[in-house]
Amino acid sequence: MKIVHAASELFPYVKTGGLADAVASLSGALVERGHEIAVFVPGYRSVVDHPDAADAQTLLRPKIEMGDTFMSGEIRAFSPREGLTVFMVCRDEFFDRRHPYGTGERDFEDNHHRFIFFCKGVVETMRLLRMNVDAVHCHDWQTGLLPLLLRYAEQRHGDILAMRTVFTIHNLAFQGVFPMRSFYRTNLPEELMGIDGVEFYGQMSMMKAGILFADRVTTVSPTYAREIQTAEHGCGLEGVVATRADELRGLLNGIDRSVWDPETDPLLPANYSIQDLKGKWTCREELLRRHGFDPDFGGPIFGMVCRLTTQKGVDLVLANREFFKRENVRLVVLGRGDPELEKGLRELAAAMPKRVVLSARLDETMSHLVTAGSDFFLMPSRFEPCGLSQMYSQVYGTIPIVSRVGGLADTVTDIDAEGGGTGIQVSISPEGLLFGLERALRLHKDKRRLVEVQLRGMRREFGWRETAAAMEALYGDEE
Ligand code: ADP
Ligand code: GLC
Repeated sequence: MKIVHAASELFPYVKTGGLADAVASLSGALVERGHEIAVFVPGYRSVVDHPDAADAQTLLRPKIEMGDTFMSGEIRAFSPREGLTVFMVCRDEFFDRRHPYGTGERDFEDNHHRFIFFCKGVVETMRLLRMNVDAVHCHDWQTGLLPLLLRYAEQRHGDILAMRTVFTIHNLAFQGVFPMRSFYRTNLPEELMGIDGVEFYGQMSMMKAGILFADRVTTVSPTYAREIQTAEHGCGLEGVVATRADELRGLLNGIDRSVWDPETDPLLPANYSIQDLKGKWTCREELLRRHGFDPDFGGPIFGMVCRLTTQKGVDLVLANREFFKRENVRLVVLGRGDPELEKGLRELAAAMPKRVVLSARLDETMSHLVTAGSDFFLMPSRFEPCGLSQMYSQVYGTIPIVSRVGGLADTVTDIDAEGGGTGIQVSISPEGLLFGLERALRLHKDKRRLVEVQLRGMRREFGWRETAAAMEALYGDEE
């Protein structure tokens, strides 16, 4: 099959979180299954400047209709591997910025224009290059308008642009809601401004557009598929999601073992495997050394790599500062995000410089070292559509401490469960997390059981086979 993906992130070219990894590894898995894949991304500086894009070709310089004006764009493409082409929708005014979405403090004010432009760039490219594909797979709100735009482009120009559209919700908490007055930039019929269209409390919602108008809707785990139909996790869109409940599929993300495998990972100071865990100790020492801790420290190391948000339960960790004061443990946090949470962690690290450290930056190499060198990986999320880090940590022999929501519930079983699990489940409260931290201390003292749990995690595969096969069914005519 020929499949187009459209997303605002793609590893290794642009990444703020799991979306980048998920889109890259799903497209890789589909290529391996013999399909021809094109991925459209905005032409951010980091993509355009990436070495893989050095020999990118300009394919088109379309004039893109944006309401009552036309804006010029440039479509460039390169092929990082056989079967895969990356298309960059470029316009420097929109995408030549250091961050994809905002300044760190707040979102860019023209995000609606940027992503309307991006979606239209995809449609124009498909139309002008006569890309006849089986399906167009859109990811998250940044591409939510694409199913509608494809449908109306067909009506206007008569070309069949795709047999199918699939929309995947990676995180319903980010919805792309903008003032309705920007709707005219889409050039879509005015009747879509109503409640049966893109309207969401008087504004326009790009996420709602994707959910309502794609032929098929998926999200990234079975549990999250159920959760987003409830008021607690539906973020106001539960009613809209429920209208698609019959078609909504919760398909678990896999992980890319060519990037995340302790046996081959080139970003680690030493590799290791189920047969020989020695390298994990080297990673541990290096992690401690890099953060100014005694490399011989033998107690438990808690690692955390995430966007610093309440989603990830960073506030629950902060609420447990007494634990980190009291116990002889280490806490290594790698993450950026909410300024308040960052400040809280900074203060914690300043109060306990020998125990706690925060690296407030994006650092792919360090994320691998924290995952490999820690004993426990903290992920007490309030909600988690899928979550990749808890899968990475399990295959790296690092025991995840997770809440029982979304993909975390689907990928981690508790060590006390029958048959033995691979992680520690906690309830979502400061006390719930504290109880989990204390269980971790006990497990760490019981070295035999600790290794048993580690090895059980390392044996897990988290592959793409089932999800890729289910996607193929959605792309084709079988469903
Ligand atoms: P989410 O998509 O909600 O952020 P996931 O668990 O799906 O959560 O994916 C997070 C991804 O982002 C992981 O690959 C993780 O290693 C990475 N990541 C998060 N923060 C950082 C950081 N500061 N530096 C490097 N990688 C990070
Ligand atoms: C989102 C979710 C995360 C998921 C990722 C990839 O960022 O927050 O849970 O793993 O998308 O699907």
